[in-house]
Amino acid sequence: MPNSKLTESTCQEIIIFGGVGDLAWRKLLPALYLAHAHSRLDTDCRIICIGRQDWSREDYIAFVEKSSKPQIEAADLLEKTWGGFLARLDYVCMDVTQSESYQRLAAQCQMDATRVFYLATSPSLFIRICACLDEARLINPTSRLVLEKPLGHDLPSAQAINMAVARHFEEHQIYRIDHYLGKETVQNLMVLRFGNAIFEPLWRAPYIRQVQITVAETVGVGSRAGFYDQTGAMRDMVQNHLLQLLCIVAMEAPLSLDSDDVRNEKLKVLRSLPRMDLASVRQFTVRGQYTAGSVGNEKAQGYLQEDNVRAGSPTETFVALRTQVNNARWAGVPFFLRTGKRLQHRRSEIVIDFAQPAFSIFADQPAAAQPNRLVITLQPEESIQLQMMAKEPGSGMNLTPVHLNLDLESAMVGRRAEAYERLLIDVVKGRLTHFMRRDELEAAWRWADPILEGWTQLGQPPRPYAAGTWGPAAASALMAREGGTWFEES
Ligand code: BG6
Repeated sequence: MPNSKLTESTCQEIIIFGGVGDLAWRKLLPALYLAHAHSRLDTDCRIICIGRQDWSREDYIAFVEKSSKPQIEAADLLEKTWGGFLARLDYVCMDVTQSESYQRLAAQCQMDATRVFYLATSPSLFIRICACLDEARLINPTSRLVLEKPLGHDLPSAQAINMAVARHFEEHQIYRIDHYLGKETVQNLMVLRFGNAIFEPLWRAPYIRQVQITVAETVGVGSRAGFYDQTGAMRDMVQNHLLQLLCIVAMEAPLSLDSDDVRNEKLKVLRSLPRMDLASVRQFTVRGQYTAGSVGNEKAQGYLQEDNVRAGSPTETFVALRTQVNNARWAGVPFFLRTGKRLQHRRSEIVIDFAQPAFSIFADQPAAAQPNRLVITLQPEESIQLQMMAKEPGSGMNLTPVHLNLDLESAMVGRRAEAYERLLIDVVKGRLTHFMRRDELEAAWRWADPILEGWTQLGQPPRPYAAGTWGPAAASALMAREGGTWFEES
């Protein structure tokens, strides 16, 4: 699917659909403020926010002052700069399903401007919005479209959106966002793998014994329960964020950083993931749902007690599963993925366990059974740790594990842009590398759908786990069956 017509141009209008929504005020506007504060936006670039509320521009500005401003760290907030940012903002009240109302938007836009349309709305509106934009002649060859996840709820719905959107935008104009691809450490993973000589020769079977990818959250579903209850952890996190991490861990070196080169390699990984039949779903997946408990020192209610969750809802808030990448590099290496809400700690990490030496003169020592282990922590802190064996001081030749620690935050001074800021700048500059291509997204659904269908067929409720734990015991059993443990258990 050729689509790498990269244009390093900038943009004059950023139009945010869903301008009053959670994502806009919590993430997008603060990120755009930071881009503005660091001179990453063109001086004449305007930000036009769209909402259903019958507000004037002043009303909207007041809303942004109240909602978005507190999201910005005090150290980054300068009143004069904030004022300059607000001057870029406009607000248009419209019903985005009504084609007539797009005239109101057109009246705010300049002829032939390079514009970004950011659809921070429910995916059910994507198709309609694109058709109306086209009818109102607001799309031109320099326009870009940003689509928020989840893009569809299964393969057919994702294909329907992709097909409909393709009637109005070329593939190289479409930015399917997965904010994990904008995280510093996720991007750094590619540098770690392909910018260093030491890991790559060992980055394969049989030298790697297993890979774990965990994205653990302490938050519950909060005010998003209405959305989340229809979605669940598989669609909200695994199908996108965790699979993208897996792709970066498992992909071959791309020919270059060009968007198609990178995305071709990620696509190959997604296509190498075996689709699960019902027996595999039963054996290799665990779904859970949190019950009341406490996270840190705070009491947390159970998922079923959250506002807007259906009574007896079967939605999973936790998933653990085992998969593998069926290609020459990874044959036989299990990949364990895990994510959940209301877990014990907020931690995202990738753990690579290396195999034991083929022959060891220390085989009689229990410590020798511990693998060399590379732990890449994405959040809350950014670090890389390599567990190795060293000699315990003294007269014997006793092994003891030691850690080589690289604390990336203190090793690298300087500002680190947040994921949304970095990705928004990429969109503004026309850089597609860190966005998902259509075939990638569809391949991810092709893998996820049989698991979701398997769960429906099995008809078992998710396993309960108390808030503040590491999920259902079955997740540990999944690992234990292959002689492993999750990182925090070892
Ligand atoms: C979002 C999910 O995509 O990612 C949320 O919809 C989740 O449910 C969030 O909380 C996690 O992102 P981060 O950057 O906080 O790890």
